[in-house]
Amino acid sequence: MGELYRRLKAYSETDEYPYHMPGHKRQVCGELPQEIMNIDITEIDGFDNLHAPEEILLRLQEEAARLYGAEESFYLVNGSTCGVLAAISAAVPKGGRLLMTRGGHKSAYHAAYLRNLTISYLYPEMMQEYDIYDAITPEQIAEALAKEPVPDAVFLVSPTYEGRIADIEKIAQIVHGKGIPLIVDEAHGAHLGLAEGLAKNSCQCGADLVIHSVHKTLPALTQSALLHVNGNRIDRDRLRRFLHIYQSSSPSYVLMAGIDNALQVVEEQGDYLFAKFQINYLRMLTELSECRNLSFLPLDARQDIGKLIIVSAKAGLSGQQIYDILLKKYHLQLEMAAPGYCLAMFTIGDGEEAYRRMTDALLAIDRDITAGKWQSRQKQDGREEEEISLYQLHPEVRMSLAQAWDAEKEEILLSQAVGRIAGDFVNLYPPGIPVLVPGEQIEETHCRQLAEYLKEELNVQGVTKDAGYRITVVKNK
Ligand SMILES: Cc1ncc(COP(=O)(O)O)c(C=O)c1O
Repeated sequence: MGELYRRLKAYSETDEYPYHMPGHKRQVCGELPQEIMNIDITEIDGFDNLHAPEEILLRLQEEAARLYGAEESFYLVNGSTCGVLAAISAAVPKGGRLLMTRGGHKSAYHAAYLRNLTISYLYPEMMQEYDIYDAITPEQIAEALAKEPVPDAVFLVSPTYEGRIADIEKIAQIVHGKGIPLIVDEAHGAHLGLAEGLAKNSCQCGADLVIHSVHKTLPALTQSALLHVNGNRIDRDRLRRFLHIYQSSSPSYVLMAGIDNALQVVEEQGDYLFAKFQINYLRMLTELSECRNLSFLPLDARQDIGKLIIVSAKAGLSGQQIYDILLKKYHLQLEMAAPGYCLAMFTIGDGEEAYRRMTDALLAIDRDITAGKWQSRQKQDGREEEEISLYQLHPEVRMSLAQAWDAEKEEILLSQAVGRIAGDFVNLYPPGIPVLVPGEQIEETHCRQLAEYLKEELNVQGVTKDAGYRITVVKNK
């Protein structure tokens, strides 16, 4: 491992002149540093071809498979996005059926759209105490699969954005009992199974297709990812075909060297780095247990390390308020804010200072809350915070996603949309789980609550604010 960067660097030091792409010709143009230009090449002699790997890229993919316990692995340069697109496209025939978590990333919905799939949903349970969605359980899968018709594949996200890990071992047994494949979008879990004390990854738990964003939780460059395949339920030629379709025909060697480099670091120093990570993280959680107002999702077997969920709702503050205080006063940039919590991410890339600064800031904010320094914006306005319940609505599906997204559409006032069919996605971001998917019937509760959220300036995607709140619906025939 680490071979690709070394080879690129050695090549940049030769006198071979590039009469080929990319157009920067390995020279500094503008302000990007020479080091990036030096290793940014295309598929020239000696560097293999990601779309038909035979030499170094084949070897690197085999090494990745060995590390994760997969039968076969593929380097991805278009993020987990293209891994999810390829996995669903390969596992489910065109026009087929997919059972998937409602909390799927948009790439899963896009795959369903492109392949004209009929989706049935698994709705995650809410962890009421923390106001976050839990992972899908084996019982939910078993119940859904007991119904006819049996889908062509099951698609889950684990860990979730908030770090909830599903029991993939049990789920794989249940799914395989129906003779169908299990796809796990493990975009947030590229570190799993790689060191002592971490939960197993989904390849080790028996999933057929597993997608990892290497860039999310390992020290790799943005967009770099992996797709792993196991067993014989997936036609590997089909999978390769879809990877050709969804991946760039000019894969970046900078990104690929970044994957190789991250995996080398984990292979060679992983035990030490992850042990240090776990010690620092647990120490931070212990110190934060002194907080009287803020609380933190505890680590358990189903909670991934590194996702610090700062629960603020009980302190009467929104997640966005804590997010803003951390950014503006302490210069700590978090991953995201939700109505009742915000999320800070830690990885092996963080040094001691990252833990110190976060701990000190949160302890200080907590003291300030006790002293009455921060007040709920809602309370200041004299309004009570409303519970988010739109996700529990399970809207009626009137048209398939593909039919509705491709149909003739119109924009109408939200207040007049009751009974109409959604023509576009409506998300409350974060968490980005769709409130409405194209093809679903809009209910009175949608219209009323979405208008409330917009008034509270929450980020509602799919409803415009121009000329009154307007939503896109399928045009009536
Ligand atoms: C659950 C999940 N799957 C897939 C993706 C897509 O990953 P990428 O950004 O690597 O394309 C994301 C991105 O945030 C995600 O949260």
